[in-house]
Amino acid sequence: MLGLLLLLQVLASCLWLGHSEVVNNFINPCVQFFYAQTPPGGGIRPVNAARICQVYQNQYRFVTLYDRTNRIPVYSAYIYQPGPGNRYNSWFVEPQLINQKYRKDMDEEIAIIQQYKINSTVIAQSQAIDKDYSGAPGLDRGHLCPSGHQTGIDKTATFTLTNIVPQYMGLNQGAWHDYEEITMRDKTRGCDTTYVITGAVPGNRSISNGRVNIPSHIWSAACCLNRRKPIKAWAAIAENQIERNHVRNLDLGELENRLATLYGRGGITLFRNSCTGKEASHP
Ligand SMILES: *[C@@H]1O[C@H](CO)[C@@H](O)[C@H](O)[C@H]1NC(C)=O
Ligand SMILES: *[C@@H]1O[C@H](CO)[C@@H](O)[C@H](O)[C@H]1NC(C)=O
Repeated sequence: MLGLLLLLQVLASCLWLGHSEVVNNFINPCVQFFYAQTPPGGGIRPVNAARICQVYQNQYRFVTLYDRTNRIPVYSAYIYQPGPGNRYNSWFVEPQLINQKYRKDMDEEIAIIQQYKINSTVIAQSQAIDKDYSGAPGLDRGHLCPSGHQTGIDKTATFTLTNIVPQYMGLNQGAWHDYEEITMRDKTRGCDTTYVITGAVPGNRSISNGRVNIPSHIWSAACCLNRRKPIKAWAAIAENQIERNHVRNLDLGELENRLATLYGRGGITLFRNSCTGKEASHP
């Protein structure tokens, strides 16, 4: 049984790498951002998805599953490591969504336009661009992997539009911000390493003439390790509505059930179904 599980895990890693559109096939740098090196399983991946190892200044920073149809991330997965550093004041896009032969490093549109002699219309075919977000009153560029959960240059790397969803200002600067800054700080006490997956459920509305989906919900789940053993997990979800400014805290299993209903593609497992304090004592 254990052998079978290991085999499945290896197969899952191969699928993650082998079928990817933007991940390099020959190295294995991205799974480090997932608990037990295991991406979420089950019905979370849309048909038209791209797996992005987020590279900035030639280093891997976090990972994103990107929904090319809705032009928003499904989720970003990262390790929680808040620390000093500046907010970045511009926005990146992902060159390899435009053309897999392009550079791995995220970059600003203007630099890509100059380097590859293309125009912004071509970039916009594959992903959301800066202009999509500029005419959207009341909506912020909501980070899935937030700048505040990273340190130094890793903060800068979160300013890529493949990590961004249209998020109502009240929520982004209110209850969701409190969850990111206060709840996460409190809950991660005693954790050596905390793996986080933060995602968005596509909604009915969009910005920029239907180009970029406004998610109906934003959710997050965390897995806390102490001395390399999982000791606890927690989760949260918020409706992304103009008049709503509320984050509901829930346990990991409740979130997985809720997401299965919301995505409607069957069961979903985060953290390989094994991030609980209980299981740590029954290996
Ligand atoms: C952008 O480039 C594409 C492909 O070369 C071309 O077909 C299109 O006309 C260009 N658009 C503009 C606005 O220049
Ligand atoms: C989205 O569409 C579904 C089905 O048409 C509907 O049931 C639901 O109420 C809509 N949600 C919002 C937020 O408009």
